[in-house]
Amino acid sequence: MDLIDLLILCSVLVFLLLWRRFWFHTGGGPNNLPPGPPGWPLVGNLFQVILQRRPFIFVVRDLRAKYGPIFTMQMGQRTLVIVTSSELIHEALVHRGPTFASRPPDSPIRLVFSVGKCAMNSAEYGPLWRTLRRNFVTEVTSPTRIKQCSWIRQWALENHMKRFKREALENGSVEVLNNCRLTMCSILICICLGARISEDRIKNIERILKEVALMTTLKLPDFLPVLAPLFSRQMREAKELRKKQMECLVPLIRNRRAFIEKGENPNSEMVSPVGAAYIDSLFDLKPPSRGPLGEQEFVTLCSEVINAGTDTSATIIEWALLHLVQNQEIQDKLYREIAGCVGKGLVKEEDVEKMPYLGAIVKETLRRHPPSHFLLSHAAVKDTELGGYTIPMGVNVELYTAWVTEDPDIWKDPGDFRPERFLEGDGVDVDVTGTRGVKMVPFGAGRRICPAWSLGILHVNLMIARMVHAFKWLPDPESPPDPTETFAFTVVMKNPLKAVILPRS
Ligand code: HEM
Repeated sequence: MDLIDLLILCSVLVFLLLWRRFWFHTGGGPNNLPPGPPGWPLVGNLFQVILQRRPFIFVVRDLRAKYGPIFTMQMGQRTLVIVTSSELIHEALVHRGPTFASRPPDSPIRLVFSVGKCAMNSAEYGPLWRTLRRNFVTEVTSPTRIKQCSWIRQWALENHMKRFKREALENGSVEVLNNCRLTMCSILICICLGARISEDRIKNIERILKEVALMTTLKLPDFLPVLAPLFSRQMREAKELRKKQMECLVPLIRNRRAFIEKGENPNSEMVSPVGAAYIDSLFDLKPPSRGPLGEQEFVTLCSEVINAGTDTSATIIEWALLHLVQNQEIQDKLYREIAGCVGKGLVKEEDVEKMPYLGAIVKETLRRHPPSHFLLSHAAVKDTELGGYTIPMGVNVELYTAWVTEDPDIWKDPGDFRPERFLEGDGVDVDVTGTRGVKMVPFGAGRRICPAWSLGILHVNLMIARMVHAFKWLPDPESPPDPTETFAFTVVMKNPLKAVILPRS
């Protein structure tokens, strides 16, 4: 063996030792991170996940069975701490809420769309987030504002029902998710921008914002920034998409400003009175450290609301309808409750509060099919501790809340769809805000809980009640319902639900 061979051999040995020390075990060690699956040199668990070619939620579901309530995944340069147990989620979000209320650093592509984290969902825990969130809650989800905007839902639901009738006549069946998305999107555009616009324009905004949502999910260079130069095309595409997003929303924002400042309303699209649209409040908002906001920020802040409320609500309705179509007994019981409450009249917003069975169906749907299996990524504001492990400031803390609703120690027969459990059984008195304990937290819990959860529930309740009151929903024999899940921003049915609808009268 000559000197060169000896040097190569030594280098390989040192490399293997380093690999064993730093990569073979994820977590643990002197950093006291939670343990996790062994990774590869430099990339950690990243390629093990990619090579599985299935959504991350399904990978985590399997790892949870092996690693339990808290574990680490090293995804390239990003460290993810996955928290899956009811107790640890409650401890992080409620007992130690302020400590875990921040968000991790954004990827370069996300920064393009959040204009440097100027959005409620991505802002770090601090004065900017507080100002944006307080303003949103006052201007959009306060009881007075919800009441003031109820005409928007009446208008959108009228169109919704007409569209279903038309589609059923033309095709013999209707597609649930797309129609619900369109209606939710039209409601939220009007809440944000005060404008009633054509269906084609709504569809265009919806399509572009869906692309934004998918574009901002984490991609390879977000885990391995050294590869970013190889992915410059992605960044170019992101900037082009941002331009399209600006082009479709800025004209509405300018028209709104002209309506407020000069009373101009050329094509009568501005329908909400001055002060009633979310954007009206943003024109005057001056968040600390940011000053007055501009068109970039207006587009970001309105888009996040439209995006956050469209897919989530539409997904819940699709899953609820799946069960109603598959289980006619539940549907009949619901119909009897609705008809008993409103007779042949129109279901109004105040009526749905008097329908406990409807409430139970919606809660059971949220439990069985939470639209997102994780909350948005959280981060600790300082180095801290959870479950006996160290959680360094800034690492991704991922709360896998879907497991809590599948846990047989918490729910009886968790795989069954049984709304009655919320009227008498293991679901009675469940607190969906998670404050009193975490049995299901479809909206998150604590400081970062969805600020529009009650508005979201109202939208879902009202839409289901109107749909079931007007039509009997049956499986489409040409396309039988298939409950397989897939991930597309929310967890949706892989084959979208189609149903045959029969008018009730
Ligand atoms: C009914 C369906 C809805 C569900 C299931 C839902 C669920 C969630 C979840 C899980 C989060 C993340 C919480 C966390 O990170 O801890 C969230 C955040 C958020 N949601 Fe919702 N949401 C719904 C409807 C809405 C609607 C209708 C709007 C707007 C009108 C909205 C606006 C937001 C915003 C702005 C955030 C970010 C809050 C923050 O980071 O402070 N959501 N939502």
